[in-house]
Amino acid sequence: MSDSEEVKSKLDIVEIIREYIPVKAVGANFQAACPFHNEKTPSFVISPDKQIWHCFGCSRGGDVFTFVMEKEGLSFIETLRLLAPKAGVILKHENTEQHSKRSRLLDIMEIAGKYYSHLLKSNTGQKAKEYLIARGLKEETIEDWRLGYSPDSWSSLYEFLKQRPKTGNKYSDEEILAAGLAIKKDTTGSGRGYYDRFRDRIMFPIWDVNNNVVAFTARVNPEKEKTEKMGKYINSPQTEIYDKSRILFALNKAKQAIRKEDFAIVVEGQMDAIACHNHGFINTVASSGTALTTEQITLIKRFTNNLTLAFDMDSAGQMAADRGIKEALAQNMNLKVLTLPYGKDPDDCLKNNPADFKKAVEDASPMLEYYFEKISAGLDLNELNNKIIIRDKMFEMINLVPNNSEQGYWLKRISEELDFSETDIREEFKKYQVKRKPDFANVYNKDVKPNMPISRPLVREELLSELFLSLIIRFPEFISYSLENLDPEQVCQVENSRFYKILIIYYNKATSFDYDDFHKYLTENEAGLENLLDKLTLLGEKDFYAYTQDGAKLEIIKIILELKKYSYHKKIKQIEKAIIATEREKNQEVGGGANMERLMEELKSATDELKKLI
Ligand code: UTP
Ligand code: MN
Repeated sequence: MSDSEEVKSKLDIVEIIREYIPVKAVGANFQAACPFHNEKTPSFVISPDKQIWHCFGCSRGGDVFTFVMEKEGLSFIETLRLLAPKAGVILKHENTEQHSKRSRLLDIMEIAGKYYSHLLKSNTGQKAKEYLIARGLKEETIEDWRLGYSPDSWSSLYEFLKQRPKTGNKYSDEEILAAGLAIKKDTTGSGRGYYDRFRDRIMFPIWDVNNNVVAFTARVNPEKEKTEKMGKYINSPQTEIYDKSRILFALNKAKQAIRKEDFAIVVEGQMDAIACHNHGFINTVASSGTALTTEQITLIKRFTNNLTLAFDMDSAGQMAADRGIKEALAQNMNLKVLTLPYGKDPDDCLKNNPADFKKAVEDASPMLEYYFEKISAGLDLNELNNKIIIRDKMFEMINLVPNNSEQGYWLKRISEELDFSETDIREEFKKYQVKRKPDFANVYNKDVKPNMPISRPLVREELLSELFLSLIIRFPEFISYSLENLDPEQVCQVENSRFYKILIIYYNKATSFDYDDFHKYLTENEAGLENLLDKLTLLGEKDFYAYTQDGAKLEIIKIILELKKYSYHKKIKQIEKAIIATEREKNQEVGGGANMERLMEELKSATDELKKLI
């Protein structure tokens, strides 16, 4: 058994999920309000029997691992490490060498953090501390964020670290270098080979989601602000424990609040994030001065779908071109942009009047609204040229939005704003889409998850097909009857139909049905369909929990009848269409007589079949 299988077998999914959200027993299963999307009536179901969960609202689902991964924003390995102790499992297959290397780097960062924080409180850091206090930070905030000071010295941290840990293997030059705290001199001459990366700066530790210090960002000594050539802020380099594009400053402190409020504020600077938290906006994270990356978007999406950007954005054009923003729109995130009433950044604004910032958050505009205003600002909208420029820029953004009604709204809106006819705009947009499609698909399909929310409501026949499949999975004794009476083409929706086809193949081979065995079969042969199996299983347990065998059989017979009727109706319509087309050809004397005979025969047989059913 692998480590993960052992952990899974020793944990109860219900108990683990219960640690995050309240769950309620309903029949043999448990129900909850889905923690991954906003809902009032619970559509999140857990099966203790199968040890799986599924949300019928947003189509996410999986096992205990996927739940904790999504909820905590962790990788699989991180989740394994988190769950193993709860299961009482000691991870044997872990690469201990790599693990200990990583944990030594984390230890080094932790020690460095303590060192800097200690110095800020000492005489050495007095000026720096006074500066922070003057900027409005309280002692406890400085403590809470473990702010520090790196001394104006070339090697004090390096030397300090060389004597650590007090017992055991001392840290090597390579390790200090790998942690990004020292820089190698490129001299061939004499002297020590390394010097401290951070000197005479105010130090901000950067944590990962699990509260490990993985990097630092360092603000220049305010007295040197004008003359410093290295930049106002310098950051740790990319290391084995720090991937810049995958970290959001303060996410460790903000994640609970983001989940609870179902909404996140993203600011640019560390000082902005700290100020926001100080004023009660504890759902704030900072991007650390860069454009939002796709990875950061994915990280936030694990906690909420609602994002307000409080960026200091000089150029909207630049911002919209950002990959991360486009990705967020394409992932149907609810993106808003906040405009500060005054001040350079949120920190400025909060210092002046927190209520003004609060109002700015509440009044944030939807991304497309903001973008439209930005690109049309200062342009004369009576000029055709300008109108076309704006239209094309808007098309690019509208095309990213996967929601049809939102697209429709925006097409109407720009036709009004730019005084074009709506029909023309829609036509133009269609042309634009055809041109842009491959490009867009590349952005969007790159890592589309199989469990992306399906927003389209099911039509009745699709619903019936789903119910049918979930019924026969819940009552496998009727699979064989069903296989004889309903063909895969008669099951609606491509994925359902495909699932049914695979089920037939599996059943004919195995001659019985077992959930675990079929799950394994899918993983090995039809990866991707497991999610549907889980969904159907839980749907069956939810909707047909109290059904007796007889009741189930009756229901199956009824649904099969309905689906068959529907499929013959559809077939008859198709044949009729073909007949009309052939008729037209005949009139134009391009032959088709024999064809017509065949069609009439098909029509008769389909009508007879249908009559038999009514
Ligand atoms: P700002 O220049 O807006 O600084 O950079 P700030 O946050 O307002 O800083 P204070 O208030 O003067 O102390 C915003 C963010 O961009 C990153 C930092 O993360 C900073 O917080 N940045 C900025 C850098 O990484 N390097 C720089 O040279 C400047
Ligand atoms: Mn600032």
